[in-house]
Amino acid sequence: MLAFDQVDYYYRSRNPVLRQLSFEIRQGEFISIIGGNGSGKSTLAKLMNGLLQPRDGQVMLDHLNTRNPDDLGKIREQAGLVFQNPDDQFITTSVLDEVIFGLENLRVLRADMAGRVNMALQAVHMEDYAEAMPHQLSGGQKQRVAVAAVVAMEPSIMIFDEATSMLDPQGRRDILELMNSLHRQGKTIIQITHHMDEILSSDRVLLLSRGAIAFDGSPSALFSSVSVTEHQLSPPFAVRLHQALGLKTPLRADWKETVSALWATS
Ligand SMILES: Nc1ncnc2c1ncn2[C@@H]1O[C@H](COP(=O)(O)OP(=O)(O)OP(=O)(O)O)[C@@H](O)[C@H]1O
Ligand SMILES: [Mg+2]
Repeated sequence: MLAFDQVDYYYRSRNPVLRQLSFEIRQGEFISIIGGNGSGKSTLAKLMNGLLQPRDGQVMLDHLNTRNPDDLGKIREQAGLVFQNPDDQFITTSVLDEVIFGLENLRVLRADMAGRVNMALQAVHMEDYAEAMPHQLSGGQKQRVAVAAVVAMEPSIMIFDEATSMLDPQGRRDILELMNSLHRQGKTIIQITHHMDEILSSDRVLLLSRGAIAFDGSPSALFSSVSVTEHQLSPPFAVRLHQALGLKTPLRADWKETVSALWATS
């Protein structure tokens, strides 16, 4: 269980970014976090794995507290964060080293390393680039490597901060399929995204606005109860069409699965 309890956060300017934020995420949930630019999504992600500590309140991962320096190592082992900008995540000078680096920190045995590195690079279709230097890669390829580095560490919670923003539609579908498969294996998946098509496969959506959670519920409930355009977000095509046609009948209960399936095959 990942629990935020009355969390406040501000940067040096002291303008509040998150205010009295409380919510819980259970192990095995697939959560989407959405919100306009600057609404605090990346700040929230960094609070989740202890890269930032709350100014007030607590962030707990089971019995571990991100305010406790002795807990931080274990928290980062259990909650892996794929950064919004992969250049902020890269530490080493080759793709292979980048994936190995995290495993060395976890003290994974050498004998087990090769298998985990190969599995992670294959999962993001980057196995042919193991010797490449990160700065030689395209933005999308860097994002794939950033995902692989976290996947290889096998954390129980994976936080993807707009990890598909530089990928083409097929690349985005590949990473979403990877998230779905990790979710089926029991991982907690937390994805931050601007793409409303991508939230359809999640169990639960949190909408951040003015430092607070403006909505917490299923994707279907989101589109029927909130005008996401007021949060600088665009609803999925199916919902826009339904609204544009002024249809009075509610969307069919299975519309979400239908759109997901169409999107996956388009
Ligand atoms: N290192 C920092 N120092 C000072 N202010 C910051 C810093 N990082 C973010 N902010 C400010 O905090 C607020 C929230 O930023 P954050 O990056 O968390 O938002 P976001 O929802 O992830 O935005 P985006 O959709 O653009 O990724 C913004 O007003 C931003 O300008
Ligand atoms: Mg962000």
